Amino acid sequence: MKLHSVLVTGSSGLIGSEAVEHFDRQGWEVHGVDNNMRRMFFGDQGDTLWNLDRLRKITRKFVHHELDIRDRGAMENLFRSHQFELVLHCAAQPSHDKARDIPILDFEVNALGTVNLLEATRLYNPEAVFILLSTNKVYGDAPNELPLKELESRWEYARPQDYNGINENCRIDRTLHSVFGASKASADLMAQEYARYFGLKVGIFRGGCLTGPSHSGVELHGFLSYLVRVAISEGTYSVFGYKGKQVRDNIHSYDVVRAIEEFTANPRPGEVYNLGGGRENSVSMLEAIAKIEQMSGKKLSWRYVDENRRGDHICYISDLTKFKSHYPNWRITISLDEILLQIIANQTKRLQDVGAT
Ligand SMILES: NC(=O)c1ccc[n+]([C@@H]2O[C@H](COP(=O)([O-])OP(=O)(O)OC[C@H]3O[C@@H](n4cnc5c(N)ncnc54)[C@H](O)[C@@H]3O)[C@@H](O)[C@H]2O)c1
Repeated sequence: MKLHSVLVTGSSGLIGSEAVEHFDRQGWEVHGVDNNMRRMFFGDQGDTLWNLDRLRKITRKFVHHELDIRDRGAMENLFRSHQFELVLHCAAQPSHDKARDIPILDFEVNALGTVNLLEATRLYNPEAVFILLSTNKVYGDAPNELPLKELESRWEYARPQDYNGINENCRIDRTLHSVFGASKASADLMAQEYARYFGLKVGIFRGGCLTGPSHSGVELHGFLSYLVRVAISEGTYSVFGYKGKQVRDNIHSYDVVRAIEEFTANPRPGEVYNLGGGRENSVSMLEAIAKIEQMSGKKLSWRYVDENRRGDHICYISDLTKFKSHYPNWRITISLDEILLQIIANQTKRLQDVGAT
């Protein structure tokens, strides 16, 4: 019997590695592409080799390819020699702030890398389901136009009709995206086009804060993971602007992969979905710090910088209504507290492992 086969790009990263583990557990043949470029972007703390080693130990049918998605020839060779049922594209330069220092590299990885994969799929694997991990930064700072009210520990939407958060009707142009948001918006639009124009089975997920224990969290990307790391290693965390009351909705990588699995089983070509933790998993910086201090038993040292990151969202909660209505079997299964407990346990262990070597 022929095995189901999936290609996961960014397979040593947070979402990619969760997908590798998940589909391997389901008996799929899993091919991963990752060149550890996260280390190049963010230095040693962004190194993902620990995660690749972990995957090699726990999986059964995982084949790793150390390839660069910018290398069109290498991508085409991979697609020529394998047939994939699912192409799950998670490789990216993922940081809003980092992109301003490397705009060309950011665009090559995020936009061109995506087109390389879409085109290889169109040429060699047109029946495959293709999923792009996009981002809520495609909306730029348009979500900040909603009226807000200031509560004691967080910003909150002022109007009852905004309670569920930002839906897919938010506009994506005429806003300040950041360089990263613009390169991801390019990828997002091209992915939609490969569905609408070429008829590929493409789905696009615009992530809120995607998180979990397998994140190689760094200051510029992976907010909860990095916050926990700073707390445990007794460093100092910087909070940028908005009085520390900015709100993020956090989703565990497992729930992201479950959404991908639902879409793969019943693809709706060309659809875009907002995917985050929704209101129940939303938290402000101040609230996250208080929770982590309480759970880890460590007092976090942090400083306030009275300038927000350019184009940063003030209150962003993903409205999950559309995805839930198309895929009623899906729901958030991992609460914010459980996410934090898992990250604390993992970061504590990783710190002990480093200390022991
Ligand atoms: N984590 C979040 O909060 C978040 C939020 C919204 C959207 N997203 C999107 O979800 C996707 C996955 O994010 P993540 O958090 O797992 O990121 P991650 O940085 O943990 O993983 C990305 C992986 O891609 C690899 N990579 C980068 N450039 C590459 C290249 N040129 N060739 C091959 N591999 C390369 C990196 O080494 C890394 O292992 C990305 O597209 C990201 O933009 C993430």
